[in-house]
Amino acid sequence: MGLFSFFRQEIAIDLGTANTLVVYDDEVVVDEPSIVAMDRNTRELLAVGTKAMNMHEKTHSNIMTVRPLKDGVIADFQAAENMIQGMINMVEGRRKFFAHLKMVICIPSGITEVEKRAVFDSADHVDAKETYLIHEPMAAALGIGIDVMEPMGNMIIDIGGGTTEIAVIALSGIVTDQSIRTAGDELNEDIIEYVKRMHNLLIGERTAEVIKKEVGAAIPDIENPPPPLAVNGRDLLTGIPKQILVNHVEVSEALDKSIAKIEDAVIRALEETPPELASDIYRTGIYLTGGGALLRGLDVRISEKTKLNVFVADDPLRAVVRGTGIALKNTHKFTFLMDRRSM
Ligand SMILES: Nc1ncnc2c1ncn2[C@@H]1O[C@H](COP(=O)(O)OP(=O)(O)O)[C@@H](O)[C@H]1O
Ligand SMILES: [Mg+2]
Repeated sequence: MGLFSFFRQEIAIDLGTANTLVVYDDEVVVDEPSIVAMDRNTRELLAVGTKAMNMHEKTHSNIMTVRPLKDGVIADFQAAENMIQGMINMVEGRRKFFAHLKMVICIPSGITEVEKRAVFDSADHVDAKETYLIHEPMAAALGIGIDVMEPMGNMIIDIGGGTTEIAVIALSGIVTDQSIRTAGDELNEDIIEYVKRMHNLLIGERTAEVIKKEVGAAIPDIENPPPPLAVNGRDLLTGIPKQILVNHVEVSEALDKSIAKIEDAVIRALEETPPELASDIYRTGIYLTGGGALLRGLDVRISEKTKLNVFVADDPLRAVVRGTGIALKNTHKFTFLMDRRSM
């Protein structure tokens, strides 16, 4: 790190509903769940990220865990600010007193003006001198390596924790944007419901998340199916802990309705796309980003539904933060992509 960078520091943040990532010096240095733990009475901050997640659903009356972003909006402003600060403080090598901190923060595109202001304020409180906000689909497009300034339409589906965003991007703008609240969290709820209904077993969010990752699928017929997973929970009838086996075919049934909602939103977005851009998408296909892109067979299912080519981005959980990092390096070039505030 040169002398200049000692005075000038730049970070890119993907403020996701499920995960927050920070890029510093071209590297992802923070990748943590978007959650904080607080004292229930004083609201004193106890833990941020993974540490807070480890307490989630295991807390007692004095401690609560909060996911500050829910359904793609900021549900708890103070918790959000604490979280942003906590994540920035995790950046190693960050000095408390440097001359100039520049940040680009990626926000869900459904965020309101009031919420944007809250994010800007949080940035001020960590002494950022120059802050930019970029919308998620644009950051995802940059992260995939799409030339967003070209007069060529590209469709991106970002499936995060709280929202699925379906956007068509061309000429540096978001042409169509569908945001629905069917995303990773809802898929977990589907799994909880299914296991309750079919196996009389109560499981928590975290177990549902493990099931989705280990044996999750969008269609019953997938290549290289994973072995069934042993799942522990509480028997609804006896009230005592019990173990069952869950396989990917069951999960595909559990998720079927929610995935159909995502498909419907994709069709709506395609219907709203102007014809010249639609013909571009016919050639370029659809890109999947966000953690939901990792669901087995989802690309195949969307491709069958739309009859278009569907590609899963490289390392889809990091596509948005990669793009936010690219925006950070090119703030002069991408001014029109972002909102700005300087202090
Ligand atoms: N292998 C996987 N299969 C299906 N879903 C996954 C997988 N890995 C992560 N996810 C889901 O992706 C979501 C997080 O994705 P992310 O893009 O980080 O969301 P956000 O941008 O909202 O923070 C979570 O709901 C998580 O359960
Ligand atoms: Mg995201």
